[in-house]
Amino acid sequence: MNVYDSEQIECILKPMGYHRTQRLEKADLIIVNTCSIRAKAEQKAFSFIGRLVDLKQRNPHLVIAMGGCVAQQEKEKIFKRMPHVDLVFGTHAISRLPQIISKIQENRCRQIDTDQSQVILDNEFVTGTIPKNRISAFVTIMRGCDNYCTYCIVPYVRGREVSRTPRKIIAEIEKLVSHGIKEITLLGQNVNSYGRKERMISFSQLLALINEIEGLERIRFTTSHPKDLSTDLMNAFKVLDKLCRHIHLPVQSGSDRILNRMNRNYSKKHYIEKVNQLKDICPDIAVTSDIIVGFPGESNSDFQQTLDLIAQVRYHGLFAFKYSDRPLASAAKFSGKIPEEIKNQRLQKILNLQKYITKEKHNALIGTTQKVLVEGYSKKSDGCVENRLNNNGKDNPLMLQWTGRTSANLIVNFVTSKDYCNDRMAITGRVVNVLIEKAMAHSISGRMLNCDRIEDGLKGDNWYAA
Ligand code: 5AD
Ligand code: SF4
Repeated sequence: MNVYDSEQIECILKPMGYHRTQRLEKADLIIVNTCSIRAKAEQKAFSFIGRLVDLKQRNPHLVIAMGGCVAQQEKEKIFKRMPHVDLVFGTHAISRLPQIISKIQENRCRQIDTDQSQVILDNEFVTGTIPKNRISAFVTIMRGCDNYCTYCIVPYVRGREVSRTPRKIIAEIEKLVSHGIKEITLLGQNVNSYGRKERMISFSQLLALINEIEGLERIRFTTSHPKDLSTDLMNAFKVLDKLCRHIHLPVQSGSDRILNRMNRNYSKKHYIEKVNQLKDICPDIAVTSDIIVGFPGESNSDFQQTLDLIAQVRYHGLFAFKYSDRPLASAAKFSGKIPEEIKNQRLQKILNLQKYITKEKHNALIGTTQKVLVEGYSKKSDGCVENRLNNNGKDNPLMLQWTGRTSANLIVNFVTSKDYCNDRMAITGRVVNVLIEKAMAHSISGRMLNCDRIEDGLKGDNWYAA
């Protein structure tokens, strides 16, 4: 969501003559878009801004802005803590940035905008030009959250839940597709409740409309709240050909007692039933999740329940976090805080278990053919096109790897025949068949077979060795 917001900021400031620079010391305006989901993210933001004080001293015309969730949370306190900051803007102020920045330029005075009262969400978004060579983009479909999980700061910093109209969402996606985007990820804190408050269409109906957009290859979305996962949405995985077979369904804990204290409104049994129903409807679906370890009051046996749930569900991937007290979130006042050392041990246990499950799942894919949406050269070779030739002027086979993702969101690195190696765009943005030969911890790899979207098919048979 922050990546999307940063892209919005870039688009909105372009008409003022601002463009992105890779060199901090060259910037006239530095915007730090912050996250406050855990204390560590907040500390990182403050220490980064703290280090900008030298630049400000050297260039008094430099404008330093702190935006996003920490700005929304801390408001004017930021000016006291960081006197070299010129602008503090909250999560609802992005569309007002041009006026605010003009004011700073004219009057050289500090500005703050953390107003959350305006709810005309649709007027806040802009779609600018899409950088070349990109095939994926985010699209926000709703903002805020009404769930108030007791550990979470989001409802306080991103405000109440508001959905955008289907018309605006479709128009934005159509524009992205016309710029060459093949895959979109719909964003919302809880996409399952899309449109409910506004009495608009449901999330599965929205997906069905998006599925009709010509030229779009893949649809992803994040995040779903298990309590709101409907049978309609489960069926969408079966009937909508563009909807990727992956759901991120954060469970947070496997203990009913802790889920209750978290205000999650489902039990372990209920969660597992929903996952099983989903797997019955769509057997090849990949399920991933978020887990919090060391929530206040979490006993060894509560934690054991979480391990047990992970072993039962056998997730395709997990994000695990140590519980972190957040201001305003009610769990900050809960008793039974867990020592850091125990949180670390529990985190490690979860990561080890998941590593084992992921490796087994990846190994099972060896010998299968996977449909991969190609993103470009892999990191190993990205930017190395010109350096592809080794010292002897011969092709360096190790440099020629491509990367993409399966529908289940698994990263696949692969090699192709020579015909596709000279041009980065040759297969970028296309869906190709890759024969899987190797499984790693975070990805799988193999070689491209025929390319079902390229009419002329595969010319030649000179595979590069990986
Ligand atoms: N401490 C630790 N993890 C948190 N998350 C949200 N709030 C906290 C917190 N206070 C995690 C949840 C959520 C993910 C985005 O971040 O697992 O799903
Ligand atoms: Fe936070 Fe819960 Fe809302 Fe997710 S559903 S954003 S965890 S309050």
